[in-house]
Amino acid sequence: MLKEVKSKNLLGIKACLFDLDGVIVDTAKYHYKAWKKMANALGFDFSEKENEQLKGVSRMDSINLILGWGGITLSDSDKAKWASQKNDWYLEYLQQMDKKEILPGALELVQELKAKGYRIALGSSSKNAVLALSKVEMLSYFEAIIDGTKTTRSKPDPQVFQMGAAALNCQPAECIVFEDAESGVAAAIAGGFYAVGMGSPDNLGKAHIVLSSLKGVSINDLIAKIAIS
Ligand code: BG6
Ligand code: MG
Repeated sequence: MLKEVKSKNLLGIKACLFDLDGVIVDTAKYHYKAWKKMANALGFDFSEKENEQLKGVSRMDSINLILGWGGITLSDSDKAKWASQKNDWYLEYLQQMDKKEILPGALELVQELKAKGYRIALGSSSKNAVLALSKVEMLSYFEAIIDGTKTTRSKPDPQVFQMGAAALNCQPAECIVFEDAESGVAAAIAGGFYAVGMGSPDNLGKAHIVLSSLKGVSINDLIAKIAIS
């Protein structure tokens, strides 16, 4: 079966669209730490499980969720102040980042894709995506960067990936999306993309396949696995 799938190239994949935080770079932990700092300063805390719901979600949507968990109501201007404070804390972590923060296998996969002629784009909710990719010296691999500065709708809306596919001149069904967020997997599926969940099947089970890491992953094997999923 696997052999047949490979030889027929059943899926006709032309491009890969990568989420950034938690897929390419190990920054999901820094978003969590910075939001936690804000929650603690406001007198409450939230769990790692709750944090899963923040992955892929824009900065202002995130603060609304967190304040809801803490039962706190703030004016719009105070919300904007705290969101900006959280971003300052996050940027402090980001400034210290280097290539060591690339997640296992991500660079190798991107390099393999490039060598084999696949198109590559970023599909991130973050407004700090270009900075993060620059810090780990991976900016040049991406033909298109669609990030929180360009989108108007947050994941699980598929807009970010639709814009990525359009920038690469590809159809959704010709693209694989790599995502660590439940909202991101939902966005990929809603847009008609193939989805690879990075993390646990507990919350990413809607993806075509779920991997715990990109370590040792090659594109042919991945396509074969998706094809029989
Ligand atoms: C996503 C993260 O990639 O970007 C979220 O998963 C984050 O946790 C969102 O809130 C927005 O990021 P930023 O950098 O614009 O605050
Ligand atoms: Mg992510």
